[in-house]
Amino acid sequence: MSSFTYSLFTTIFLVLTIFLHPSNAQLSSTFYSSTCPNVSSVVRSVVQQALQSDPRIAASLTRLHFHDCFVNGCDGSILLDVGGNITLSEKNAGPNNNSARGFDVVDNIKTSVENSCPGVVSCADILALAAEASVSLGGGPSWNVQLGRRDGLIANQSGANTSIPNPTESLANVTAKFAAVGLNVTDLVALSGAHTFGRAQCRFFNQRLFNLSGTGSPDPTLNATYLATLQQNCPQNGSGNTLNNLDPSSPDTFDNNYFQNLLSNQGLLQTDQELFSTNGAATISVINNFAANQTAFFQAFAQSMINMGNISPLTGSRGEIRSDCKRVNGS
Ligand code: HEM
Repeated sequence: MSSFTYSLFTTIFLVLTIFLHPSNAQLSSTFYSSTCPNVSSVVRSVVQQALQSDPRIAASLTRLHFHDCFVNGCDGSILLDVGGNITLSEKNAGPNNNSARGFDVVDNIKTSVENSCPGVVSCADILALAAEASVSLGGGPSWNVQLGRRDGLIANQSGANTSIPNPTESLANVTAKFAAVGLNVTDLVALSGAHTFGRAQCRFFNQRLFNLSGTGSPDPTLNATYLATLQQNCPQNGSGNTLNNLDPSSPDTFDNNYFQNLLSNQGLLQTDQELFSTNGAATISVINNFAANQTAFFQAFAQSMINMGNISPLTGSRGEIRSDCKRVNGS
């Protein structure tokens, strides 16, 4: 073989590898521009409708995209109910059970999208679009959502239990879980800023209030006044399900108050406050910047949502376009 023929074959091989290898497939903001040009506004109007009766729903939908993407990539796997080949759902995993919410609104969005463009928009993309609509309707940034994900055929309950960070683990562990899906420290801090809206149940942070890890004392990194309020709302032996605002200063607004709260020791979850209170952590300077500059936070948040949305999507002919977000087709 001449060296010309050889390099020609090499080039063809490389081009085919880049364009056909599924793991290299790229999402695109114009994916539905001919098949469902209005998909963003259809999603947005259903979210807006839902917000009329439930001011928390924007936060809940944003969290669903996160919990979807961290488990088998952004493939709509969190939406699958038990049934057919699904014996262990992600919905029933520890981080989601009696906690993740908004599934009914996702179904309403899907119905509305199917009415405009049947059979073309995936449930995984609906979660990405609903997260963007939620953040921007809450007063946060807008961004061009990357699209073209397809829906997975399996759920991974044990993956949900191990890959989604829990609110009592160390900063090192949380950082490692983000790194495992290709997200860095800036992504971790920016995305944690989603705790600027929504609620958390007492059971997720009450270990901080009275007896932190057997010390007999509350978490020393909790502001004393805030501690007293939380102790009142989450008394010892009280219900673990009582709700608290993640950002007491503006509970339903997407702003940078979350970072200002961390500066004054008012992070609600242990994992929130750790980002700022862990000695020497690389996260501290990022928080100082976002607390001082909301525009910097908004820009970083939008970019990090795009990064998170890029976690292992199914593209091309992998997966499917589900017709019901709760079920694999034909099951
Ligand atoms: C860094 C690690 C994280 C941990 C340990 C964590 C943990 C939690 C916990 C325990 C709750 C309360 C759930 C409940 O009470 O039912 C919560 C709520 C929430 N999380 Fe996170 N989270 C993390 C990162 C993220 C990220 C990356 C996002 C989105 C980009 C996010 C968005 C939300 C939102 C919006 C809520 C409120 C949901 C609602 O009101 O329904 N979280 N998180």
